[in-house]
Amino acid sequence: MNVGGTLIAGPAEERLSGAIKVPGDKSISHRAVMLAALAEGETRIDGFLPGEDCLATAKMFADMGVAIDWLNEDKTSLKVCGNGLHGLKPPTGVLDAGNSGTCVRLMAGVLAGQPFEATLTGDASLRRRPMRRVVDPLRRMGAVVRGEDDGNLLPITIRGGRLRAIDFESPVASAQVKSCVLLAGLYADGRTTVREPRPTRDHTERMLPLFGQPVDRMDDGRIALTPRGRLLAPEGAVSIPADPSSAAFFAVAASIVPSSRIRLMGVGMNPRRDGWLRILRDMGGWIGVHAGSDVGGEPVADVEIAYQRLEGVEVNPADVPDAIDEFPILFVAASLANGAFVLRGAEELRVKESDRIATMAKGLSAMGVSIEEHPDGVVIQGGARLRGGVCVDAKGDHRIAMAMAVAAQMADAPIEIHNAAAIDTSFPGFVPLAQVCGMNVHWEGQA
Ligand code: S3P
Repeated sequence: MNVGGTLIAGPAEERLSGAIKVPGDKSISHRAVMLAALAEGETRIDGFLPGEDCLATAKMFADMGVAIDWLNEDKTSLKVCGNGLHGLKPPTGVLDAGNSGTCVRLMAGVLAGQPFEATLTGDASLRRRPMRRVVDPLRRMGAVVRGEDDGNLLPITIRGGRLRAIDFESPVASAQVKSCVLLAGLYADGRTTVREPRPTRDHTERMLPLFGQPVDRMDDGRIALTPRGRLLAPEGAVSIPADPSSAAFFAVAASIVPSSRIRLMGVGMNPRRDGWLRILRDMGGWIGVHAGSDVGGEPVADVEIAYQRLEGVEVNPADVPDAIDEFPILFVAASLANGAFVLRGAEELRVKESDRIATMAKGLSAMGVSIEEHPDGVVIQGGARLRGGVCVDAKGDHRIAMAMAVAAQMADAPIEIHNAAAIDTSFPGFVPLAQVCGMNVHWEGQA
């Protein structure tokens, strides 16, 4: 866990404005570097997210002999000279995913197909998160996995090799689980299928064909992959859209600070990622979407958001996976909306970088919000006047730190947000970009 780092945030002293581009999509950046490393040939990636999570993925492949050439100082463009599906070298040490669930769970799928043993670990937060969801299917495919709590907790050691294809019914709606099994499926002896309880983000399915590996979406909702035996570097660069999960902080900030209007450029609009926009629109948000052309097989748009008094809503459980990372910031919108906001069916929030139901409930109630915790969600009675002058703990969770910084814009005095340094895992440069838009936020000691 990236501990430490205190933010001083709020209240906003002016309306928020500007046209900005948030950094590249985290989920897509992980996948781009993974597939490029496993492909034959050289892949150029543009718009890469140089956050700690995606850098951990890049470093793991470097530790297994893949040449990665950073093309600019801010590490948003790179060239990956892939080793092919069977060209990774055994790492000399433990592979460290830091704070990143996507890195560790997808890499588990890759390692399951390697003819060597490797150990995956992570920071204190990641070492508390459940791994059986990926370990179980990988064991069924023939990988040998050892680890704490029968492989549920990191560190885990994977002894891979040629795998058996399986038909897998995932008990959780998780793109990390689905992607892990599909990546392992690249090394299997036949067709691997995955069925999920609800559809989740499909970046892996969209990107594999760019590398010459077809993926079938079957009529019954299953995803099927029959390995071609090789991945090939695409001819053109892989371009990565701006991360909708990062854009959401600015969208909600503009929605709650009176007279604000912000334009967010080139935002990924994958239908499995735009649940937050749908929910914000249902809440009465003022949202204009100016669709652009696809980027790297992903739809993008410029999104314009202006201040609008919001209303509480009951979130449709079917929308939960499409907004799973945005609930911390949606809770902030809900706190300032008229009426009740009800979220159920979101128990997955309890096993994210922190327990996001508990951490947000604690932070928002310290600011005077009426928020009732449920095992699988919250009920927020909106319309609160947000109290400043309090200290809240982001618990080393990037999205909590940014959500609380946005909430503070409407507080009656500044708040302190402790353990906020993890913002760098997904959104390096959040603070200066927020300042450019008019948000009142700075790192302690850097006023
Ligand atoms: C991700 C999937 C989601 C999401 C995470 C990124 C991915 O996790 O919360 O931030 O890139 O596949 P789950 O698969 O655990 O739902």
